[in-house]
Amino acid sequence: MRHLLTDLDLSAADYSHLLAAAARLKAARKQGIPSTALAGKVVALVFEKPSLRTRVSFEAGVAQLGGRSLFLPGSEVGLGWRETHADFARTVCRMVDALVLRTMSQETIDKVAAAATVPVINALSDRWHPCQALADLLTVHEAFGTCEGKTVVFVGDGNNVAASLAVGCHRVGAKFVLACPKEYQFDARALKELAAAGVPAPVTVHDPRAAVATADVIYTDVWTSMGQEAERDERLRRFAAFQVNADLLAAAPAHAVVLHCLPAHRGEEITDEVLDGPRSRVFDQAENRLHVQKAVLGWLLISSH
Ligand code: CP
Repeated sequence: MRHLLTDLDLSAADYSHLLAAAARLKAARKQGIPSTALAGKVVALVFEKPSLRTRVSFEAGVAQLGGRSLFLPGSEVGLGWRETHADFARTVCRMVDALVLRTMSQETIDKVAAAATVPVINALSDRWHPCQALADLLTVHEAFGTCEGKTVVFVGDGNNVAASLAVGCHRVGAKFVLACPKEYQFDARALKELAAAGVPAPVTVHDPRAAVATADVIYTDVWTSMGQEAERDERLRRFAAFQVNADLLAAAPAHAVVLHCLPAHRGEEITDEVLDGPRSRVFDQAENRLHVQKAVLGWLLISSH
């Protein structure tokens, strides 16, 4: 049985398969072709953190494939404090066909998976966001017809989204560059995990204009993620020169497109004119969460996929 706990679970062949499957699912949806691929399957979503895109795309995706989803707020399930991770997994796995977890900590997902008898999918942890990276790369593929050889410049801190994208880029043959203040590079644990998975240490640049000079994709994320609110003022100061705005875009090639995983803090990491501008692929990227996650569900739950 497979899980999707981190991007490290996905080989280059897996990325290729999932991106192709997602493109087929997207085309089928646009053509109104129905699917019963998950008929009779129930997927439980346990979320310890807020969500719009991830929750809606999983719930809508399961429904579009003929299955059912159950949304369980983390405060109700009480993973690790109301009962052990293993007792939760051993119970709920007797009732559902897959678990989708959004957790404060990657350890929670790993502990559930260790006792799970159905596939577990990481819907964001403090360390990884693999479904996001798949959607990002599908969007890059749509923009350029390929991901191979493209340069993706992540302008922001070395967070969970950046770590997943670094792995994904390596697997699909794209170059990943991190543009950030010195204090916000990937931490030692992330670099060790990337290295263990055969991903070279990402190129890190501290001058955002130099970083985007050869970019095909400029990607940003909020400077203050969920749980970092106490650091907000300091982060606003440190990242001020890293805003993705018209000036920064002027330093990039004319064909470069802009991505953001959303939700955005408009006027902080990205300006309205860029987010709403002609080079933004942000809402295609958000939609692509739906298609890649349907591909992941098929890959994990249906033997023929
Ligand atoms: N990008 C993303 O995961 O969005 P949500 O937090 O709204 O799910």
